Amino acid sequence: SHSLQGRHFLKELDFTAEEWRGLLDLAAELKAAKKAGREVQRLVGKNIALIFEKTSTRTRCAFEVAAYDQGAQVTYLDPSGSQMGHKESVADTARVLGRFYDGIEFRGKKQEHVEQLAELSGVPVWNGLTDEWHPTQMLADQLTMLEHAGGKEIGEISFAYLGDARNNVANSLLVAGALMGMDVRMVAPKELHNPAEVVEQAQRLAEVSGARVLVTDDVEAGVAGVDFVYTDVWVSMGEPKEVWDERIGLLRPYQVNAELLAKTGNPGVKFLHCLPAFHDTNTTVGKDIFDKTGLDGVEVTDDVFESEANVAFDQAENRMHTIKAVMVATLGTWE
Ligand code: CP
Ligand code: NVA
Repeated sequence: SHSLQGRHFLKELDFTAEEWRGLLDLAAELKAAKKAGREVQRLVGKNIALIFEKTSTRTRCAFEVAAYDQGAQVTYLDPSGSQMGHKESVADTARVLGRFYDGIEFRGKKQEHVEQLAELSGVPVWNGLTDEWHPTQMLADQLTMLEHAGGKEIGEISFAYLGDARNNVANSLLVAGALMGMDVRMVAPKELHNPAEVVEQAQRLAEVSGARVLVTDDVEAGVAGVDFVYTDVWVSMGEPKEVWDERIGLLRPYQVNAELLAKTGNPGVKFLHCLPAFHDTNTTVGKDIFDKTGLDGVEVTDDVFESEANVAFDQAENRMHTIKAVMVATLGTWE
């Protein structure tokens, strides 16, 4: 059964490998059903609140479309659209919204806030990204890897993450990969390795799952033979603009470009990115950063991003199917 009825979705560490696998399977099922025009609505009459303290394109739209596909209604609260965090505490907001809504999504800075909403609202709460974790992204990433790994089981898939390994996506990738028994390589300069406690959590999971966990600053060793190369922005939402100079200095050798993909030794290697990506030097977004780097692209070059290797748009699509699975599993009332 895929039912996780009444459960929250706050971080990967709260789930067993079986439960996580159940969500991946449900997402694949829901994706196939939608494509075949035989989707069954299991959230009719449900009301869902989407709280965004940080901005979003994919996560917000994925929650909205998934909810509408399943027959639910949503209220979107933008970063300035509620009293929460300004005039009213998270605790009071949780106790109010819990009276109106059947489920609440929260994206913001503090993991503590999403945990508090979960504790006090009385309804399932879903983490749409915090400074620490990005768990809905991980379901989409693993579903995409399963789809593009030529029939490999999840435990046979390897990936290397290059870039800022202290951010939410990197922490989630390490822990979710370890949970599912994957070959996980975190490749970053020592200053930007995952926090020690996250590495320890991943190592504990790996002892059970048989995952391989490698944290290294050595690009060659890190990317050798991998199925997927993954990167994310070098500076995350909420970080001050001033850290760009330091990040560019540290991360330049970890840029995903054609030369780096060649170092994998795998001619079929695929590229993943949670998006948004800084890759197009002609864009006006981030122009000042490109001018500063003098690089062709920032974390990824435009030639790699526009190549056949890039499966980041499948990954983006899968945000919707996997978020739908999370809502259906936690709110659903079928057998
Ligand atoms: N990948 C991701 O979470 O994208 P958004 O910030 O657009 O939601
Ligand atoms: N690490 C990025 C992920 C965006 C989806 C950020 O937090 O900005």
